[in-house]
Amino acid sequence: MEFKAGKKSSIGTNKFAINLFFENSTRTKSSFQVAEMKLGMNEIEFEAKTSSTTKGESLYDTVKTEESIGADIVVIRHSEDNYYEDLVNNHDLKIHIINGGDGTGQHPSQSLLDLMTIYEHFGKFEGLKVGIIGDLSHSRVAHSNAEILTRLGAKMYFGGLNAWYTPEFAEIGPHMSVDELCQEMDVVMLLRVQHERLSAEENHNFSKADYFKNYGLDQRRVALMKPETMIMHPAPVNRGAEIADDVVECDKSYIFPQMANGVFMRMAMIEAVLEGDKASEEVADQKRQ
Ligand code: CP
Repeated sequence: MEFKAGKKSSIGTNKFAINLFFENSTRTKSSFQVAEMKLGMNEIEFEAKTSSTTKGESLYDTVKTEESIGADIVVIRHSEDNYYEDLVNNHDLKIHIINGGDGTGQHPSQSLLDLMTIYEHFGKFEGLKVGIIGDLSHSRVAHSNAEILTRLGAKMYFGGLNAWYTPEFAEIGPHMSVDELCQEMDVVMLLRVQHERLSAEENHNFSKADYFKNYGLDQRRVALMKPETMIMHPAPVNRGAEIADDVVECDKSYIFPQMANGVFMRMAMIEAVLEGDKASEEVADQKRQ
């Protein structure tokens, strides 16, 4: 929020960032790139398909290489859940690793920008009713947000296909119809259907029209909401599948403000990890004196 209010970066111009995206991304990658540039950092270009990972180089060797070359932080998006555990637990890497999304696991920077957007609107988390509707089981956003919002005192509810309401979500909150969620929630968070993670049979049986009718957010459902209810979506949105075209940018929608907040939140994340370096260097200097 301080960066959004105009705070200037104290990082200097001699820090290097590399964004290793092994899964497709529009928002997260661009947002980290803009955050790094606004902080005065230098970005090392990386494209997974032209990198030496195509010659068999491991993720660890790629990260160690970038550390050796002089990168200070690496942002990684990878299709493997918990890819970072090997990097953190089995190796002595000095480079800072920021998770840009791991498989169906976690999406911490998305979650933090979602928290920022909710806090700007309500000024609290305690007692808020937050409903997440859609492809829960494949969603790293749902996993991160359900966990952190519960810890912050919000009450979680879920909607969408029963098959996606797995036991881990059932432990956190009840399943409700989309109409009920629209009537009762303070925040309605939609998720796209992750066709790339569905089986061939699941994709074959999927009907976009049926899905939209049963679980999609249209103007009829928006009209059921309380005046202050927020509509959120991590995007990419699939207009006409989980959300109607004319709802994406309606008055209750915070989808594009979420993206705008993402830059400021990622600036704060990067600054926090690099400030940790500065604090360690200052302690080392004091010990030397
Ligand atoms: N929200 C999100 O992670 O979008 P991208 O996949 O485009 O980065």
